[in-house]
Amino acid sequence: QTNQIKVIPVAGRIGAEIQGVQLSKDLDTSVLNEIKQALDEYKVVFFRGQHHLDDASQEAFAKLFGEPYAHPTVPVKDNSNYIFELDSEQGAKANHWHTDVTFVPEVPKYSILRGVTIPSVGGDTVWANTNTAYEGLPEGLKKLADELWAIHTNEFDYAQLVAKAIDEKDEVRQKYRAVFESTVYKTKHPVVHVHAETGKKHLLLGGFVGKLEGYSTSESEKLFSILQSYVTRLENTVRWKWTEGDVAIWDNLATQHYAVADYDEHRIVRRVTVGKEIPVNKDN
Ligand code: SIN
Repeated sequence: QTNQIKVIPVAGRIGAEIQGVQLSKDLDTSVLNEIKQALDEYKVVFFRGQHHLDDASQEAFAKLFGEPYAHPTVPVKDNSNYIFELDSEQGAKANHWHTDVTFVPEVPKYSILRGVTIPSVGGDTVWANTNTAYEGLPEGLKKLADELWAIHTNEFDYAQLVAKAIDEKDEVRQKYRAVFESTVYKTKHPVVHVHAETGKKHLLLGGFVGKLEGYSTSESEKLFSILQSYVTRLENTVRWKWTEGDVAIWDNLATQHYAVADYDEHRIVRRVTVGKEIPVNKDN
């Protein structure tokens, strides 16, 4: 099967489509290793036409990349063990730049996302390479970033925003809301971390950053927005136009992503997040 795999870059600095693979828990080790190598190189990889996958087989496949990671505040989808569902009709639209779940000490390593219901137009997802973002900083900013630490918090989690927008009478939503409100995390991470597999430096920022340590709120906002602007510049990004049955796998600690909310139709994607790692900088 190895010879049949094709890895086709989708953009100049991040993202590749992998062709010739049917994803399953029984994937050949050599094929799995090729996918992992492609992930180190391209940070996010895409597979078309994986219609055979359902929730259970997505979970079983995801386990090849690490221990599944249950989201700390959002309950898993009904009848699943680890599926995190984003359903636009439930208000779940991840249209902000973020790295998944950075507000806890051990950040998930990989996310495996399946397109279940996809609008006829719109609803693309954009990923950014946080290594080329770091490399693109002027030398002075690199030195500054190398020393910075940020407090990440789920106080601004889109899931919480959804919960707050919800009809008070809906019992299920009230239960979710109680979970969000009782569980606010605040975790300090280095702004520049060294990737465990590649040894490369990456900016670790995104939508869960509450504040940069040692700066006032307004200084922190300005500094954050300068550094974050290097992540989101278009040269560092790839944009994926989903069709149903597509799967995207990304290296969470090497990327940020943004789900473009430019559609009116129904959109459902389901994610399994696996592995965990405490981000380290040069000093720890
Ligand atoms: C996510 O933030 O993991 C979901 C991205 C998407 O909805 O495309």
